[in-house]
Amino acid sequence: MIVLGIETSCDETAAAVVDGEGRVLGQAILSQIAEHVPYGGIVPEIAARAHLAHVDRLVTKAMDDAGLRYADLSGIAATAGPGLIGGVLVGLMTAKAISAVHHLPLLAINHLEGHALTARFTDHVAFPYLLLLVSGGHCQLLAVEGVGRYRRLGTTVDDAAGEAFDKVAKMLGLGYPGGPAIARAAEAGDKTRFAFPRPLKGKPGCDFSFSGLKTAVRLAAEALPAGAFSEKDLADLAASFQAAVVESIADRVTRAVEIFRKDYPDGKALVVSGGVAANTELRAMLMKTAGKAGLSFAAPPPALCTDNAVMIAWAGVERLKLGLIDGLDFKARPRWPLDPTAPKATGAGVKA
Ligand code: KG4
Ligand code: ZN
Repeated sequence: MIVLGIETSCDETAAAVVDGEGRVLGQAILSQIAEHVPYGGIVPEIAARAHLAHVDRLVTKAMDDAGLRYADLSGIAATAGPGLIGGVLVGLMTAKAISAVHHLPLLAINHLEGHALTARFTDHVAFPYLLLLVSGGHCQLLAVEGVGRYRRLGTTVDDAAGEAFDKVAKMLGLGYPGGPAIARAAEAGDKTRFAFPRPLKGKPGCDFSFSGLKTAVRLAAEALPAGAFSEKDLADLAASFQAAVVESIADRVTRAVEIFRKDYPDGKALVVSGGVAANTELRAMLMKTAGKAGLSFAAPPPALCTDNAVMIAWAGVERLKLGLIDGLDFKARPRWPLDPTAPKATGAGVKA
């Protein structure tokens, strides 16, 4: 089984070819970060145009890299949501065209399912497992019961974890994307200097919140002499913020582990995925939490944690193996929850 995957839901245009045994046969990825840097964040219209300009070339490059022709493929997968709709349309339409011309099964992939199943590709993790999905747009704890079967245990009531990193980095003048910039600045910092809140720590449930923490960082930065701060101040702010995020997530994950162990006695693994999973401090904390609970821990390598097409192609493989093929009339979806039955999150700034 060989599947070509296309990812265009955010600011990476990517194509990859993977096989049923979990090997990457070819890939090509183009980050648009440079085009969005002047605006301090992703501009949807610029993203959509850039995807359109590059997607065909990247698909060809991934196929050439694999040394394959379309006739060699078993299926074609593309992110069909959730994400910035202009970009999603570009990738999905490209896949539909290839599907129609070469008579290949179309696999319309939920981007979040791509992140969720990556650990099966990298670490062969068996269902069920507990997943922490932390990216720029999402922050959730899910019990992954099977392909297409997710139970949400917790979500954010305000910002996603990556969004908090990005906003704090912007506030501190560290640029975009914020996660890697904060992590770098924090390396030389003292994480005990600023006593930032650990949002929701000790509270029932597994939801997340980061907006109060963001405000605390802003107030601490503003309180420094004359509004200007030294490299040391910057490093300490970054380290203290990162420590607060990690400790808050640790508390939420510990609660989710309790629920998971009770409701899924055969579950054996804690998995992290999404862009923020590239954070070394977070990975170290999760490994410790999993160890304490007697669970194994799987974290894909950073290049497979941030957006990529390998995860989309692999989700395509998983779905194709189960015969879950989609029609050419499948519509791109700006929103597409993994667990549609989960109640809406309520809390700071979120209406029921
Ligand atoms: O999964 P992803 O590539 O795109 C989305 O689907 O959102 O995640 C991107 C997010 C950004 O918010 C970025 O700041 C964050 O992941 N990120 C990190 C790190 N590397 C990327 N956050 C914290 N530490 C990192 N090392
Ligand atoms: Zn993503």
